[in-house]
Amino acid sequence: MKQIYLDYAAATPLDGGVLEAMLPYLTDDFYNPSATYLAARSVRQALNEARAKIAGCLGARPAEIIFTAGATEANNLAIQGIMKRFPEGEVLVSAIEHESVIEPAKLFSHKVIPATKQGVVDLAKLEAMVGDKTVLVSVMLVNNELGTIQPVNEIAKLLNKLSNLRKSKGNKLPLYLHTDAAQAGNYLDLHVSRLGVDLMSLNGGKIYGPKQSGILYVAAGTDLEPIIYGGGQEFNKRSGTENVAACIGLAAALSKAQAKRQAENRRVAELRTMFEQELAKRLPTTQVNGPAANRAPHITSVTFPGVDNERLMMQLDEAGVIAAVGSACSASNDEPSHVLKAIGLSDQAARSTLRFSFGRDTTAKNVEKVVKLLADFVAANR
Ligand SMILES: Cc1ncc(COP(=O)(O)O)c(C=O)c1O
Repeated sequence: MKQIYLDYAAATPLDGGVLEAMLPYLTDDFYNPSATYLAARSVRQALNEARAKIAGCLGARPAEIIFTAGATEANNLAIQGIMKRFPEGEVLVSAIEHESVIEPAKLFSHKVIPATKQGVVDLAKLEAMVGDKTVLVSVMLVNNELGTIQPVNEIAKLLNKLSNLRKSKGNKLPLYLHTDAAQAGNYLDLHVSRLGVDLMSLNGGKIYGPKQSGILYVAAGTDLEPIIYGGGQEFNKRSGTENVAACIGLAAALSKAQAKRQAENRRVAELRTMFEQELAKRLPTTQVNGPAANRAPHITSVTFPGVDNERLMMQLDEAGVIAAVGSACSASNDEPSHVLKAIGLSDQAARSTLRFSFGRDTTAKNVEKVVKLLADFVAANR
């Protein structure tokens, strides 16, 4: 039985070309890039090229790219790095952020920006919450449970306006915007100037690159303290011998994902539309969470009223279909998803919700089969 994998929002398989690009740096070219002999210098050069490639994809400068071990670390560096620098300041994070944004924010003076029932950060509330002490706002680009695209560029414009107003009153604190783009790399434009962000987190594990690879983009002039101290690598912002193979893998994965993103966006959106429409025909009481438009194409969150999501997930698993109960990015806990609760779902509805996420190997045939299985299991479970 061939497995049907519908959890690409949790992990993507490593692209073959990416693996090939990485292999030399796991074997023959293992040298420490900070060493000064010739063999190590070529490793340093490869690392610099990877940094430049990533910067190119983001419309950034190489010196603005800090390699990290994944998006959790990049998010921690963004939040803690800014807040340690401005201890008198306050950070605002949206209610639907990943835990790796919400938890570090709790270490500092912080406020949580509510989301609308549609799973989008509430702009009017955000505007009202920005105060004289706000130094950082963190809003993700694509939500990992709903797929909703957040209005990051609108937020950037709003913060710009508020920051200028503050400056005119003599307030010298900066007002930075961070976005966690971990779910966006395969489908959306990541140009930092078009988005208007000062900081952006990305990881390789969602874009067919290696896990524990990632970057934090930090716009030149942004005041950031390190959170890992040591030998001063990564412009003194993230010490530790660089994971060269992972950095090279990330660069290869990101450039491929960005080159394919428009075609993949159309292809995957068609599959998701088909999935949702067929499901609505077979199971009219199901509810898709989030708006019809303005969602990244790969994620659909579906509530099956009266059905236990754990049970349904296990039935699918036994039939060879892999889907997710909420987000697998957080370690397993029994609490219903904070994202679903933030958009107004009851605990019961959240416990009847599964996330399906599509990727490069998903086909129309897969989708048809999963809809049929779901219709059978749900009918039997009610
Ligand atoms: C939106 C979002 N942010 C951050 C993370 C954490 O990334 P990593 O596993 O690379 O630390 C994930 C998922 O893992 C995610 O979906």
